[in-house]
Amino acid sequence: IRTCIVIPAAGSGTRLGAGIPKAFAELAGTTLLEHCVRGAHASGVADHIVVAVPEAFLASARDTLGTAAEVVAGGADRVASVRAALAAAQRSDPGIEAVLVHDAARCLTPPEVFTRVTDALGAGAQAVVPVLPVTDTIKRVETLRSPCAAAGDERVIGDIDREQLRRVQTPQGFAVEVLEEAHALQARDPITATDDAMLAERLGHEVRAVAGDERALKITHPLDMRIAELLLEDATA
Ligand code: C5P
Repeated sequence: IRTCIVIPAAGSGTRLGAGIPKAFAELAGTTLLEHCVRGAHASGVADHIVVAVPEAFLASARDTLGTAAEVVAGGADRVASVRAALAAAQRSDPGIEAVLVHDAARCLTPPEVFTRVTDALGAGAQAVVPVLPVTDTIKRVETLRSPCAAAGDERVIGDIDREQLRRVQTPQGFAVEVLEEAHALQARDPITATDDAMLAERLGHEVRAVAGDERALKITHPLDMRIAELLLEDATA
């Protein structure tokens, strides 16, 4: 099936503290965005790749990526960046049947994850997410409001069975009309959404889960960058 990979890479990266938008921070001398586009290409599943970057980085992204990807300006939040990239992808290739949405921050995602997602789409799934089990015990908390509590103090109010929980990664795969419909509803009636599957679930679409991979970690905090450096050393050793 004709597939496009859309890469939102327009976040500020405040939590990483690199002083530059996260996708343009360097891992072993190469930007996360370049690592990500390389990995997306290497997966061999994409006919077209579109990345959404901050307006001020359009020129530098086009310069470094060349013909490897189409580069567009992102939006104020992740959903807006995905919407902008999806619109560009459909303008460039109206024949697209499936779209993989992949965070630039998951730049070391192995090719097998892309393949598992596209295989599920090929087998008829309308929406697919890669997932991993949860290893920590998960509890619900609330802010403590007693006279002796310090600001930010919390107390535990319940437990969640971790056997039923999964950590969700990208690339997330969608039949193109499902992603379009999901983003059209989000534009009319926005909800807080940290991934695209949430928008498809809201429409009642079944979302299939396939195995993710620890190497597809989302580089968010400085420690993640250190882990990514080690993973890259392993990969090139
Ligand atoms: O903020 P978070 O880490 O969840 O962002 C996930 C991905 O969405 C990152 O690759 C980031 O660059 C992207 N993003 C974007 N446009 C925004 C905010 C985030 O493309 N306005």
